Amino acid sequence: MGFVIAIDGPAAAGKGTLARKLAEHYGLPHLDTGLTYRATAKALVDAGKPLDDETIAAETAAAIDLGNLDRAVLSAHEIGEAASKVAAMPSVRVALVEAQRRFAEAGRGAVLDGRDIGTVVCPDAPVKLYVTADAEIRARRRYDEIVARGETADFTQILDDVRRRDERDMGRKDSPLRPADDAHLLDTSKMGIEAAFRAACAYVDKRL
Ligand code: C5P
Repeated sequence: MGFVIAIDGPAAAGKGTLARKLAEHYGLPHLDTGLTYRATAKALVDAGKPLDDETIAAETAAAIDLGNLDRAVLSAHEIGEAASKVAAMPSVRVALVEAQRRFAEAGRGAVLDGRDIGTVVCPDAPVKLYVTADAEIRARRRYDEIVARGETADFTQILDDVRRRDERDMGRKDSPLRPADDAHLLDTSKMGIEAAFRAACAYVDKRL
């Protein structure tokens, strides 16, 4: 295994932004593994296929092209919800984890972010970060993002969604969201992204 930085954490904790910044800083390729689950869910919805048939969902997951994942197309809230449903299916995870591991092992290193990178996808990664923040703060960030785009949003509903997604991701049987035993915890509740980035770099530099 090369220099893999594994980043996990709940929705809207800032791990995506942090992963992109670290990838750029260390010159490593980046994979947002949430997009692989989102792409699977979207492909099912677009083809008019059910979201609760594990065989069909696993076939769809196996056909996902990691080189063609567009955050803009996959960012819709409904796609995130559908993604967290298909992500609870073990054979969907087998297919996507295999592709994610190939990505992690293809070069001299990589940055991967998701829910199970440090625990399942890359348990031997030399650097593991678990990025989290209070649910209210994560919901507030989501709310501010939506309002900044000129759209309307309901804070209470967003907070409910964040909590429901946490419950589903942390409570599922297969690969639940949890920090790896050797993960470095980064609580961004009281930290801006720049401070989180500096803290992460200080940790990563010790392991280079
Ligand atoms: O991070 P993002 O919101 O794009 O992820 C969408 C959903 O995909 C998550 O709620 C989670 O259920 C699932 N996921 C996962 N394992 C990963 C990445 C995402 O189960 N490594």
